[in-house]
Amino acid sequence: MQRILLDTDTGVDDALAIILALNSPELQVEAITTVSGNVHVELCTRNVLITLEAIELREYPIVAKGESQPLIKPFVNAEHVHGSDGLGGITELLASDGERCYPHPEPRLSPVSAVDLIIELAGRYPDELVLVPLGPLTNIAKAMIKNPARMRNIREIVLMGGVFETYGNVTTTAEFNIFVDPHAAQLVLDFGIPVTIVPLDVTHQVILTRERLNAEIGKKKNRLSQFLSDSTEACMKFHHQRGGFDGLYLHDPLPIGLLTQPELFETVDAFVQIETSGDLTQGMTIADLRPERPRPTPNARVCVGVNSESFLQHFFDRILSTTTRF
Ligand code: RIB
Ligand code: CA
Repeated sequence: MQRILLDTDTGVDDALAIILALNSPELQVEAITTVSGNVHVELCTRNVLITLEAIELREYPIVAKGESQPLIKPFVNAEHVHGSDGLGGITELLASDGERCYPHPEPRLSPVSAVDLIIELAGRYPDELVLVPLGPLTNIAKAMIKNPARMRNIREIVLMGGVFETYGNVTTTAEFNIFVDPHAAQLVLDFGIPVTIVPLDVTHQVILTRERLNAEIGKKKNRLSQFLSDSTEACMKFHHQRGGFDGLYLHDPLPIGLLTQPELFETVDAFVQIETSGDLTQGMTIADLRPERPRPTPNARVCVGVNSESFLQHFFDRILSTTTRF
């Protein structure tokens, strides 16, 4: 059993990662923390609670609200992809009786901030806790600044972010999570805890199409399947209009899969740096991944390959499994 903490900017794919993690018997989700990214952290936090209500849970993981602003840069969001509410507009959906389909959730929140909860759990589970950041790294960096000694207890960081040998999704050279807070990303890389990076290079290979989702949901009409359909609709439409495919990238579920199905992934050791200032390249993740090139001492593992179809099948087998764990 791996103890993990999910740090999210819940968003549509973050929600799918939360559902996958909570349906992975190999993982113990000790907490879910939130950070401004796809949308403001207030909305991300509400979205985590809405997602948890969509899953038939007997017990809720601790949820703690995190940082609203990056370390230095002004905050930018991704509402154009995830909707103004961060979940594809489902919070505005009304049933035939005029009631909200996804009403405001019970505010079940930790009394401590995300940063303090990360520090507390790092100390409670020395050399056990794996951090899984799925948004900008602001919370992680602030925890390292606030209590570096305690944060050295973290076993590993497995994050979704960055791009190396293809184009970015915010600028030509930068991926969103790193672009929003490049200073936090550099600080996390410099801190010395083992870091595994799951970049766009592999997440762009794993597409959840509307056709596949409908086929997998099939006749399973329940609260979760309705949430999966509703929450992904707008994001799929966005990609259909812009990217030409009626679907969405499974960015954030992939780090979960790397933890539970490592055989589906390929990684290499690399020396990774972050561009924190460039006018055109701010947020770029830089590493020479060519096998023939001499490598400086690695500071991270970079995921460079995924068995996309096997991961997709695993994803559905888990999230639609009737035997939920809680
Ligand atoms: O670039 C994709 C990443 O940015 C994903 O984590 C998505 O949720 C957004 O946070
Ligand atoms: Ca995310």
